[in-house]
Amino acid sequence: MTIATARRRHALDLDDFTPEEIEEILDTAESMKEVLSREIKQVPTLRGRTVVNMFYEESTRTRISFELAARALSANVVSFTARGSSVEKGESLIDTVRTLQALGADMVVIRHNQSGAPHLVARHFAGGVINAGDGRHAHPTQALLDLLTIREHLGQIRGLKVVIVGDILHSRVARSNLWGLTRLGAEVTLCAPPTLLGPAAYWTATWPQVKISYKVDEAIAGADVVMALRLQKERMQAGLLPSLREYSRAYAITPERLARLGEKTLIMHPGPMNEGVEIWPEVVTAPNTVIDEQVTNGVAVRMALLYRLAG
Ligand code: CP
Repeated sequence: MTIATARRRHALDLDDFTPEEIEEILDTAESMKEVLSREIKQVPTLRGRTVVNMFYEESTRTRISFELAARALSANVVSFTARGSSVEKGESLIDTVRTLQALGADMVVIRHNQSGAPHLVARHFAGGVINAGDGRHAHPTQALLDLLTIREHLGQIRGLKVVIVGDILHSRVARSNLWGLTRLGAEVTLCAPPTLLGPAAYWTATWPQVKISYKVDEAIAGADVVMALRLQKERMQAGLLPSLREYSRAYAITPERLARLGEKTLIMHPGPMNEGVEIWPEVVTAPNTVIDEQVTNGVAVRMALLYRLAG
């Protein structure tokens, strides 16, 4: 274990992770996959520790995989949703976290629709905090499981051409993947209509290596990985798109586009998908599509992170 990882208490985004630390977590996740392949998929590593999953926003993959990950490490797991809790009586996020600490929580996993909520929690909680997705800001564990899936299939990240296509403006997955992919040496292209990208200068100022494209057929030519993103209608203002049909025609990963890419290009999507909008059902089930593997890898990656942060 490196000094950097040994001292880390929180995982709020990948912006403060070194390439070595990311690779270490991916290596640990590979070991966790071995645990998950056993008949008894459980090790005593976090026995006696309490992990609280705080979900203020809907989730299927992230919430369930964090629960499975914590259980596979023998932690006590408590699932907290804002609905049905004292949040509905007006209790603040800070008071909620203080309450969880008083109840004995050692680690908190938080998803919130407000960007920055995990950082606020980290300032008021003595244990470790993992960001499970905040607003449009960050989703570090999604990026880690994406990196693991790419590395497993293509051997390494360095030098790969990765194209992220879709609603980039609202995407925390795109932002965390940009940190992870560029730290590990991938060449990243962002492709979206101008209204779903925002100012190109924002992206190139933060990640100078990144390329911008508004034409999906040009962007994905020769790509090693194409990552389609969901249209986040819940975060979208009116008027960003002329129509779903026009958007799909110009930007969806269709069977025709898949055929032009060839069989070696990995097709990814963080989920949940709008099938027929940003990705076609025939593409979802194609042999080079790894969406289910991304979900599966989520458990091992989250085990790795819980283990490393519990230190
Ligand atoms: N990728 C992802 O975060 O999915 P959920 O919203 O289902 O957790």
